[in-house]
Amino acid sequence: MAKVLVLPGDGIGQEIVPEAVKVLKKVAPKYGLELEFEEGLIGGTAIDETGKPLPEETLEACRESDAILLGAVGGPKWDHLPAKERPEVAALLALRKGLGLYANIRPCLLYPALADASTLKKEVVAGTDLVVVRELTGGLYFGEKRREQVEEGEKAVDMLVYTTPEIERILRLAFELAAKRSGKVTSVDKANVLESSRLWRETATRLAADYPDITLEHMYVDNCAMQLVRDPKQFDVIVTENMFGDILTDQASMLSGSIGMLPSASIGGAVALYEPAHGSAPDIAGKNLANPLATILSAAMMLEITFDLEEAAQSIRKAVEEVLEAGYRTGDIMMPGAKQVGTDEMGALVRERL
Ligand code: IPM
Ligand code: MG
Repeated sequence: MAKVLVLPGDGIGQEIVPEAVKVLKKVAPKYGLELEFEEGLIGGTAIDETGKPLPEETLEACRESDAILLGAVGGPKWDHLPAKERPEVAALLALRKGLGLYANIRPCLLYPALADASTLKKEVVAGTDLVVVRELTGGLYFGEKRREQVEEGEKAVDMLVYTTPEIERILRLAFELAAKRSGKVTSVDKANVLESSRLWRETATRLAADYPDITLEHMYVDNCAMQLVRDPKQFDVIVTENMFGDILTDQASMLSGSIGMLPSASIGGAVALYEPAHGSAPDIAGKNLANPLATILSAAMMLEITFDLEEAAQSIRKAVEEVLEAGYRTGDIMMPGAKQVGTDEMGALVRERL
């Protein structure tokens, strides 16, 4: 019996996570996997109930589980809190750090039925199939932060720090992932300006010697942002530091039709965390409008990565594809002539096909 800790969190997290849990409950037994589910508190919801965004109990439960399924955290109700106490920082970043999840895998795949859903031209996005490997526990988001009073007013400081071992481990992961795909790694940095990027690039170049079958290319992050929308098919595995990866994956999500389609897996520690790449979307929360597919596809990643059930994961992806082919859409991927459905209906349609 394996334990999945379920952390719906805030906003649409409360609606999308139950749909993915129901998918897991249907698929796992078919592949001989017995799962038990336990629910925990995180984010603003946890602040409201316990006073803390990441209660000790939740972290403990995470450590005792085999995998974690998370929705999203944050919302206007907690935006007034100082940065250090906000759910995004004190819950999500703290959880990633606390569990040692230094690698965030974000596959960006366009389901053919959604070629028209993107705001980008169909002929540009068609055939997109790339993965962003984002460093997740270093860089600007975790560096020292402070404010000072100076003569001119206030001064704010965010430190961008990377060490060689931190860069090496994420790059190795990207090289190994590329070996299972088309064998190309694009390492993204800003080495023309940043010292941390220069260390990143030197390290990538040095490690590449250990992977003779992989083609390594370096790209500046500003160019990468442009290339992603100009010709996304040139990419296979993109590896980059924390903030660049955060920004580029939101952008890349439009290649898959909507950010509501982008799953993710955070790995590198004893237990992995699976969550959609999008946020808590307070504007549509509680209205049965959210797209549960990114979370459902994150559950598929869980079956594949944590439980080594590739076929089970594939069956979920196929079900998602069939639902899209049949013309069902949530609002974010809606197009003329399609049938618009709510969060719960979308989940049910996927399960019907499993
Ligand atoms: C993401 C999110 C988070 C991040 C926020 C909510 C802290 O944007 O998972 O991409 O920046 O990592
Ligand atoms: Mg983000």
